[in-house]
Amino acid sequence: MKFFVDTAEIDDIKDLNALGIVDGVTTNPSLIAKSGRDILEVTKEICSIVDGPVSAEVVALNADDMIAEGRKLAKIADNIAVKVPLTWDGLKACNVLTNEGHMVNVTLCFSANQALLAAKVGATFISPFIGRLDDLNLDGMELIADIRNMYDNYGFETQILAASIRSANHMSDCAAIGADVATAPPAVIKKMADHVLTDKGLDGFMKDVAKANIKIV
Ligand code: G3P
Repeated sequence: MKFFVDTAEIDDIKDLNALGIVDGVTTNPSLIAKSGRDILEVTKEICSIVDGPVSAEVVALNADDMIAEGRKLAKIADNIAVKVPLTWDGLKACNVLTNEGHMVNVTLCFSANQALLAAKVGATFISPFIGRLDDLNLDGMELIADIRNMYDNYGFETQILAASIRSANHMSDCAAIGADVATAPPAVIKKMADHVLTDKGLDGFMKDVAKANIKIV
């Protein structure tokens, strides 16, 4: 499973990228607003750090304007994936931009039918939002499983990009189900390394290091 980082914070992206675990980045208008930076400028900087796809989202609501914005975003760098919302206009924009050779990420997906439409119009990525479904006592992970099954049944090449990931368990569950990509905030990715027994075990080892005065260099 590929790891994308869901942030527009440059320091966090550099930090995780240095570890070699960043396969791409996703942003959205809320993350850009949080960064306090100009969308074109910060997106360009992210594209210069990361080799993989960098999702940058349109802000228009009608297809023609989404297409114009998508073309402008795509000019930033070769690794831009234009992000469009899963509306009828977003599907139209996805179809046009995909046919022009751009990567397109269709976002705000909350149902299997929406994911089916995104695949039919040739989306590179579909972004089902797990956490926001869970917030409503629905099952976000079940949606990932349904889309996986549906895409496999018909050989759709659209990649399932699990989004709105809120916990480390979401990451391993996505990997077990077969999501192609999971995008998560930096803190969630770092949390994947945590285990109380690791901390406890290390504490015991360190006590013995001190007791026996073990030195390596
Ligand atoms: O990838 C989409 C993500 O940014 C939304 O996450 O936690 O606001 O639902 P969240």
